[in-house]
Amino acid sequence: MRACSDSAHPVYHGLSGWINPEKCCASNVFGVNCVPILMGTIVEPAYLTGSTKFTWFDKFREFKVMKQYSKRMVIVHWLTLILLIAAWYLGDSLDDATDDSKATLAGYIVHISVGLSVLLLAVFRFYFRRRDGVPPPTGDTPMDKLAKGVHYLLYALLYVLPISGIMTVITSSAGKALLAGDANLLPKEHGYRSVFAHTVHEQLVNVLIALVALHILGAIKHQFISKDGLMKRMMLRRKD
Ligand code: HEM
Ligand code: HEM
Repeated sequence: MRACSDSAHPVYHGLSGWINPEKCCASNVFGVNCVPILMGTIVEPAYLTGSTKFTWFDKFREFKVMKQYSKRMVIVHWLTLILLIAAWYLGDSLDDATDDSKATLAGYIVHISVGLSVLLLAVFRFYFRRRDGVPPPTGDTPMDKLAKGVHYLLYALLYVLPISGIMTVITSSAGKALLAGDANLLPKEHGYRSVFAHTVHEQLVNVLIALVALHILGAIKHQFISKDGLMKRMMLRRKD
């Protein structure tokens, strides 16, 4: 049972403070590659680390560093990607439809439903993240810090982007059209020009695309240059 060997990061130990996993593994106490934890010293992980989750085994009373995101975090991550692609495609079609003065209410309803699902998933994700924890960071280089910053910005966008969409509906005639079920009330060509929320919504989509591109580049770098198996952390298939 290799509890510590996968992380180059210190792990919090309730009794003796921070343990360097490498040292921890070198100690090889009781024939397992980790320092055993004494009764009563188990630490509530979310409280101490804010995120990293540990589980422990009665037999050895040892820490086990989380190696992958929980299954439900993985499902929500990939489902969000699918919904974002759908919302982006539908939003773009709505924009074209407005230009042709052929926008349909159905298109709006589908776009709004998909967008609101993204928001709902973001709320679930926040809860799952707190409950399940996340694997420890892969490193502490400026690139790792950049990746973490990108993750925070992506999370922020998953809330702010749908909210700007809601504001677009509220502050334009789209709201009235939806309430009345009358497509003629929808903003016509350039009808959103004076709607500030729409400009914000549009620009946030561009920011999202740029950040997701950066995020994917990071994943590619890990997969093909660093070859550290980072992608496996976001996969349903369990490592052990
Ligand atoms: C988070 C997911 C979302 C994405 C990726 C997204 C994407 C887009 C895109 C690409 C456009 C076209 C922008 C343009 O070039 O004019 C758009 C327009 C719009 N979106 Fe969203 N949106 C999302 C969520 C929402 C939500 C939750 C709502 C409302 C509750 C909403 C309401 C609107 C409205 C009213 C428009 C204007 C349609 C038009 O330009 O003709 N969106 N969205
Ligand atoms: C093809 C597209 C994508 C790939 C290959 C990808 C890959 C990954 C991988 C491998 C991780 C784990 C990183 C780690 O363990 O440090 C991750 C985390 C993450 N991804 Fe993606 N991702 C993609 C799309 C997206 C999209 C569209 C979003 C949302 C807008 C997103 C948001 C996040 C966030 C916020 C995390 C951090 C999770 C956390 O620590 O709570 N990803 N992604």
